Amino acid sequence: MRTLVHISDTHILPTPADRLQGVDTLQTLERVLEYVSSSGVRPDAVVVSGDLANHGEMDSYRRLRPVLERFASSLSAELVIGMGNHDARGPFREGMLDQAPSDEPVEYVRWIGGLRVIVLDSTVPGAAYGEVRADQMDWLAAELTTSATEGTVLVLHHPPVPDSTPLAGLLTLHGAAELAAVIRGTDVVGVLAGHAHHAIATAFGGVLCYAAPATAYTVDPLLLEQRTLRGVEGSGFGLVRIFEGQMVSLTVALPSEGRQTYHHELDDRVLNRLIGESVVAA
Ligand SMILES: [Fe+2]
Ligand SMILES: [Fe+2]
Repeated sequence: MRTLVHISDTHILPTPADRLQGVDTLQTLERVLEYVSSSGVRPDAVVVSGDLANHGEMDSYRRLRPVLERFASSLSAELVIGMGNHDARGPFREGMLDQAPSDEPVEYVRWIGGLRVIVLDSTVPGAAYGEVRADQMDWLAAELTTSATEGTVLVLHHPPVPDSTPLAGLLTLHGAAELAAVIRGTDVVGVLAGHAHHAIATAFGGVLCYAAPATAYTVDPLLLEQRTLRGVEGSGFGLVRIFEGQMVSLTVALPSEGRQTYHHELDDRVLNRLIGESVVAA
């Protein structure tokens, strides 16, 4: 059995004085990490599915990296990170991966014993929505022609699932059907995503697709259906287990008083404004 701690949407800010809608996002992340550390859980890997920085700032990555690396090494766990729409590829590569700051998509394969973790970059520079690329699907299909003894998990930021809310098309993954077709019938056992700032679980391509809640703040999913985008204080993460060819995800929510951080009525005017912004909410 493999255990993954699935963290998402840390939205780290450049300096200790910065706040996101009143939230100290490094502090909320550290609360989550302390909670995991004190629980006795010993994950094989820590997976972070994007929106690591709030605006792709190098200073945000400089603050985040030692915190994540210290956490992972204290648990003898691998650290696996992927891009989100709030990240910037150049600073992400340089600040988090010690790579040249190219704008190429950040995509790679990591092995956790016999478990293959494939990180895909679903971001579109300058856009909040995500996209599947043809060259990316060719690369993924080629990679999946060889099998992994413990199966494969995909990690990408944008949940490849239908969205029934007014934000559909703005925040979702374009080309999700192509991705489903590539993974169907392969050894992929699950897909891990983020971006929504609340947990999502659904079938996708014949396996479980799970989006973890954010550590930065939570989006109220019920109000979203009523054309209201409401952020509240509160963090969560996913505890993911893979065994016997199946992925099981538990959502762990940390206690919060649920103070409101923002509130937008999603009338057409607000939606049009959000569509014009590259890094809205989630
Ligand atoms: Fe996002
Ligand atoms: Fe986010």
